[in-house]
Amino acid sequence: MTSDTAFSAKGWTPDQIGSLKGKSYVITGANTGAGFQAARILLSKSAKVLMLNRSAEKSDIAIADLKQEFGEGADVSFIQMDLSVQACVHKAAEQVLETLPHIDALICNAAIAQVAKQEITVDGFESHLAVNYFGHFILCNRLFERLNKSAGRIVMVGSEGYKMGIKTIQFDDINWDTNYHANNTYCHSKLAQMMFAYELQRRIKKAGKAVKVYVCHPGASKTSLINHKASFFSRLMFSLMAMSPMVQSAEKGCYPELMCATEDKIKQLAYYGPTGPLNWVGPVGECKLENFALDHEIAARLWTLTEEKTGINWQLRAADATAHFATA
Ligand SMILES: NC(=O)c1ccc[n+]([C@@H]2O[C@H](COP(=O)([O-])OP(=O)(O)OC[C@H]3O[C@@H](n4cnc5c(N)ncnc54)[C@H](OP(=O)(O)O)[C@@H]3O)[C@@H](O)[C@H]2O)c1
Repeated sequence: MTSDTAFSAKGWTPDQIGSLKGKSYVITGANTGAGFQAARILLSKSAKVLMLNRSAEKSDIAIADLKQEFGEGADVSFIQMDLSVQACVHKAAEQVLETLPHIDALICNAAIAQVAKQEITVDGFESHLAVNYFGHFILCNRLFERLNKSAGRIVMVGSEGYKMGIKTIQFDDINWDTNYHANNTYCHSKLAQMMFAYELQRRIKKAGKAVKVYVCHPGASKTSLINHKASFFSRLMFSLMAMSPMVQSAEKGCYPELMCATEDKIKQLAYYGPTGPLNWVGPVGECKLENFALDHEIAARLWTLTEEKTGINWQLRAADATAHFATA
């Protein structure tokens, strides 16, 4: 449901972006899908793009494609990072800090979805929550101070799924041992990401930090999100849906994240994406945000739980630099 588009009937498009020469963007999961398209458009505007991808092989192919399109001078590179392995996220974050003195935006785009059977990561967590949420929480924490010095942004790529699951955080069974369900766990992880983003906005405001956090969703886009790990039924359903006009290209799916990474005329405590039927397609603008995603108490509880599960003590203090990690 649309609350407003603010960017004419066409909605926001990348035509609104001017030259990004001298600007640096970090994108997770950018070897394919919406993340790849976001990288493409940022490069077309002369930005520097650093991808954080789990597959070196797929990254090499993506970079070769981008260099073919934009020339050998295209400023695109990658660092290997598997969001499901917390140690790997820490290592990748260190490499990012060594590579980029300035970060204009960190786009938390990577995700897994609809994993048919419960999978537990090496760190002991349900895989959707581990990849989509815990991994990004660690990354945001580790890059926060660099983003703060850069007056940069964090873009959280959520999903309309945030309102299709249990609509809260399942604190009493965070790994879904008793009631595992492929869609509910995906939706749970996307809600967790979004609640974290809004809580981070509140804490940043209180601490007077310079980082802006924006939340968006790509609508329904033709990507490889539903893959071999999904059930046969899910794959069939999504491949049939992909043939309908209710599903858009991966390129259009990246517009909301690009908007959140570059546009000045947007606000926090808001939610951006396609505003047409079901918010799956249509002009990109502000979408209605359900109140449960803004619940302070649940968000604060989730923050504490996440600190415990990641071993990160993330205090944002007003006086000094602030976001720090400490292994528990
Ligand atoms: N497509 C839709 O209709 C839709 C709808 C709602 C929300 N979204 C959201 O949009 C975002 C982009 O998804 P997409 O549709 O473009 O899907 P996609 O084509 O499958 O891209 C997802 C990316 O995430 C990466 N990834 C997965 N697991 C990872 C891990 N453990 N560590 C690091 N990277 C990992 C994938 O890498 P590999 O190539 O190695 O797997 C890929 O690069 C996601 O946040 C998704 O939740 C999509």
